Amino acid sequence: MNNQPHIMQQASEAMPQARYGIDAPTVLRNLVVLGIGCIAVGIAAQFVAYAQRLGWLAVAGGICAVSGAWFLMSAGVMLWGSLIGKMRLRDRVLALVELRGDEMVLDVGCGHGLMVIGAARRLGSGRAVGIDIWSNVDQASNSAGATMANVRAGGVEDRVELRTADMRELPFPDGMFDVILSSWAIHNLNAPEERERALREIVRVLKPGGRVAIVDIQHTAQYLSVLQAAGLRDVRRFGRSFLFVIPTHIVTAAK
Ligand SMILES: C[S@@+](CC[C@H](N)C(=O)[O-])C[C@H]1O[C@@H](n2cnc3c(N)ncnc32)[C@H](O)[C@@H]1O
Repeated sequence: MNNQPHIMQQASEAMPQARYGIDAPTVLRNLVVLGIGCIAVGIAAQFVAYAQRLGWLAVAGGICAVSGAWFLMSAGVMLWGSLIGKMRLRDRVLALVELRGDEMVLDVGCGHGLMVIGAARRLGSGRAVGIDIWSNVDQASNSAGATMANVRAGGVEDRVELRTADMRELPFPDGMFDVILSSWAIHNLNAPEERERALREIVRVLKPGGRVAIVDIQHTAQYLSVLQAAGLRDVRRFGRSFLFVIPTHIVTAAK
């Protein structure tokens, strides 16, 4: 605890070598393909409409081109979110949980280690654990090896453990963690009951007095009600931002 200023200084430094991955790469690719396709069709329609004096085709082509531009813009926003926006929100979330430095921290669905590494850089005697199933659909080039390389790049390999595990069945005893974080991960469970299962696992492995912070683009209203029903206190949802086009919210609670 007494080395907190030093730890905070470290945490504010850039982590140039770490690569935190591109989220939802298939969605991103589809938006780019759709965007380019719609713009090309829209422009071609303008030529035909002009040559054949078809007013309705000019309007349809215009709509098509504008839709294409919107798809490309959405792809750009998503890419910005993965490369820049997420780091800003990570820092905001980590500031919210006010780590002392001696906690056991869990990152649920850690991917390339955005939260687990960020938290570990704020720890002294504490430890940070990241769990994931390393899905390449949810994040490009996702693997324990890629995340471990980021952990090393962040200089926190003495404080971080990575485990391959499913968030619906956390391989930890009850009350093991002081702080549990999760960013853009729980929404990947499609069924509401599966998300509830993951949230109940989070509550189970959280220590009495521990804190949770979940960042996600969808289903945060459900997270709020499940955490409340599970008996957590100070359950709040806030911080709407649009870094992945769809609004991201932060949900915090304490046990
Ligand atoms: C969009 S990525 C976000 C990763 C990281 N938290 C971040 O903010 O960069 C979602 C992550 O959730 C993981 N994930 C999906 N379903 C999971 C499950 N059932 N259990 C554990 N992790 C899961 C994926 O493998 C992926 O790494």
